[in-house]
Amino acid sequence: MAGKQKTVYVCAECGAQYPRWAGKCAACGEWNTINEEVVAAKPAASGMAHRAAPTRIDAIDPQEETRYRTGMNELDRVLGGGIVPGGLMLIGGDPGIGKSTLLLQICGHLGQTMKILYASGEESARQIKLRAERLGVDNSNVLLLCETDVDNIIAAMQEEKPDILIVDSIQTVSLSEVASSPGSVTQVRECTAALMRAAKTADIPTFIVGHVNKDGAIAGPKVMEHIVDCVLYFEGDRHSNYRMLRCVKNRYGSTNEIGVFEMRDKGLCEVENPSLMLLSGRPKNVSGTCVACTMEGSRPLLAEVQGLVSPTGFGNPRRMCTGFDNNRLALLLAVLEKRAGYFFSNLDAYLNIIGGLRLDEPAADLPVALALVSSLKDKPVSDGVVAFGEVGLAGEIRSVSGAEQRVAEAARLGFTKILVPASNLKSITGDYGIEVVGVSSIRDAYEQL
Ligand code: TYD
Ligand code: MG
Repeated sequence: MAGKQKTVYVCAECGAQYPRWAGKCAACGEWNTINEEVVAAKPAASGMAHRAAPTRIDAIDPQEETRYRTGMNELDRVLGGGIVPGGLMLIGGDPGIGKSTLLLQICGHLGQTMKILYASGEESARQIKLRAERLGVDNSNVLLLCETDVDNIIAAMQEEKPDILIVDSIQTVSLSEVASSPGSVTQVRECTAALMRAAKTADIPTFIVGHVNKDGAIAGPKVMEHIVDCVLYFEGDRHSNYRMLRCVKNRYGSTNEIGVFEMRDKGLCEVENPSLMLLSGRPKNVSGTCVACTMEGSRPLLAEVQGLVSPTGFGNPRRMCTGFDNNRLALLLAVLEKRAGYFFSNLDAYLNIIGGLRLDEPAADLPVALALVSSLKDKPVSDGVVAFGEVGLAGEIRSVSGAEQRVAEAARLGFTKILVPASNLKSITGDYGIEVVGVSSIRDAYEQL
């Protein structure tokens, strides 16, 4: 039965629906995100076809958890140990960052033992083949399907019964019964839901590629992120070859894990020692830089923090951050002034985290403060020094988690001295061959340098 069509106005950010257009979405507060969409009215009571009976939780046989290894340790770790059967994984990222390359590369490894259906709505089979040749993927188990109709992709999946399905990208495919154009909020949502139903029913793990809008969120409503089991973001600096795969949602593992890759002429290579990469090219004997030790998921990472303080040319001093929160910088500057007596009020302050990394963790406070004070005093922090610790509003240095791992990582990379929160000292029991100095305030930390 062809339902009657109606027009609704849908917010592209949160998926809220309105009967008429408005400049601002009342649900999420975003401006200019509401678009007109035509939807076909669905026949009612479609969900009543079958009803599942409740089961006692202790009567369910969990079966042994199996995970398929993708052949790339960095990706496996981000996924929480490998691909879970029946899992729906969304990979988002800027155009040209390497999403299709990554998926084609794992086809090469998984294709040795499994059958893979790679459905692409973006490239022709010849184009994919050319890329596959470059990546050395040549496997009879990898099936290519150039198709934009989700029903056809699902039909091909049911016919071929692959072990893994890849859909590149959700913005280019559509369902014919949904009237709006491919890439619109309704299409993206309905296509994801249709793929999820098909993948869960057949227990086939599915990768979906999603494009990212100008704010860096996956284009389409947030609901898409709610539907899938795992959301991965592929990020990287346009000017460098390094790429980071970050997990923001994972039903089968921890989030916050990152995988680091390098884009080479033969595809993506894993970077096994990211700290070394982040610290390469560090200037010697220059004021305003300090090495931070941050935790990315379960892994400690060393990164260089650079601060620059200079007299302000205008009435209002400028504060600018790359890879750090602007408000957090303002707060740290206030603490430095009020509690430690370092004055920044007529100075511009710039902060940069090298390597395209984002430091969101409170443990980055201390190295950021030290980089700024070092620039202010024009006194370099010695080369062998690493620091971590949260700065409180009273100017105190507070303890953070994972202290021992951070110390071990700094020692492994040949640093000679590490400043840690004094209250963390008792949790560091091993001897790592590095001088561990407990500090309790910012002044104390600066004097220990
Ligand atoms: P691609 O995977 O097509 O990006 P996405 O699917 O995320 O849009 O990546 C294309 C980019 O990667 C392109 O700029 C070229 C580069 N690239 C390499 O540097 N080496 C390679 O071996 C391949 C296949 C791509
Ligand atoms: Mg692509």
